[in-house]
Amino acid sequence: MKRIGMLTSGGDCQALNAAMRGVVKGLSANVDELEVYGFENGYKGLIYGNYRLLTSADFSGILTRGGTILGSSRQPFKLMRTPDENGLDKVEAMKQTYYKLNLDCLVILGGNGTQKTANLLREEGLNIIHLPKTIDNDIYGTDVTFGFQSAINIATDAIDCIHTTAASHNRVFIVEVMGHKVGWLTLYAGIAGGADIILLPEIPYDINKVVDAIQKRSKAGKGFTILAVAEGAISKEDAALSKKEYKAKVAARKYPSVSYEIADHISGKLGSEVRVAVPGHTQRGGSPCPYDRVLCTRLGAAAAKAIMDEDYGYMIAMVNNKTKKVPLADVAGKLKMVDPNGQMVKEAKRIGISFGD
Ligand code: F6P
Repeated sequence: MKRIGMLTSGGDCQALNAAMRGVVKGLSANVDELEVYGFENGYKGLIYGNYRLLTSADFSGILTRGGTILGSSRQPFKLMRTPDENGLDKVEAMKQTYYKLNLDCLVILGGNGTQKTANLLREEGLNIIHLPKTIDNDIYGTDVTFGFQSAINIATDAIDCIHTTAASHNRVFIVEVMGHKVGWLTLYAGIAGGADIILLPEIPYDINKVVDAIQKRSKAGKGFTILAVAEGAISKEDAALSKKEYKAKVAARKYPSVSYEIADHISGKLGSEVRVAVPGHTQRGGSPCPYDRVLCTRLGAAAAKAIMDEDYGYMIAMVNNKTKKVPLADVAGKLKMVDPNGQMVKEAKRIGISFGD
């Protein structure tokens, strides 16, 4: 008999259901009796005891379904130790729900913040297995996170679509790509979509270099330029500010996002129009791509194996195309960023892509 709890926390992504299905199928095929409790809307469900007992029917037909059958919410890690508005100790409440249901373990699907709370619960003595979810691909200790490849496809499609209209109108276009504080999604989608300029948080840009790159293209007879800009892209001047000064500057910014600021600056310097396209949350939506379906099925099966072995306290990662148990204690709180001097950036530069640096 195994009794497990499951929750999905933080921003959703395309393959959460596929991953949960992998875990449950992996367990169902190998244990006589299985009880799966699904906590609703992330850690909230665990804190306030909102859950439902799931059956195998709940995991049928969800390999291809985007979003999460459990719902999700953001419960910031930094507030986990702060009592809620009614004075409830959230960590104690989560532990009580776990013990009340007599769970063997909790399977937690989520990104960096979620992982930090998962590690906190591990430190508090709960049996935890974490699965690395995020379109941002910024989780340390795994080569890839699920949702990332599906999001690359969508962001690349957006760049492809902008390409044709940019070419027709001889325009400069910015496509703003998600990714929070890291540039993985922008780097991959930018290269896949043939962007001419890619701006990443890890490589602060100089607006004059960006303008030079556009002018160089014009001189070479190219009528249009596509920029793939990460939502967290930052100029060299802003990167030199303290965290506090930068926060204040962003709060006072008259633009809805960095792309509009860049567009305005380029437009001012070139005297021509620059358009911005923001695919936004479409990048997290729709059904998972085949790569993510396979990835999640493998991670799910490996999680099931760890649960059967009663081997807890790990993130189930993919390293060199092999599933691997990585101790949560070693990775929680660390970010995986693009290496500005890494091979991929160097190769992109070699084919003439400008990073504005
Ligand atoms: O972490 C996933 C992500 O989509 C980031 O790329 C983005 O910065 C953030 O979530 C958006 O969060 P929200 O959906 O809360 O606006």
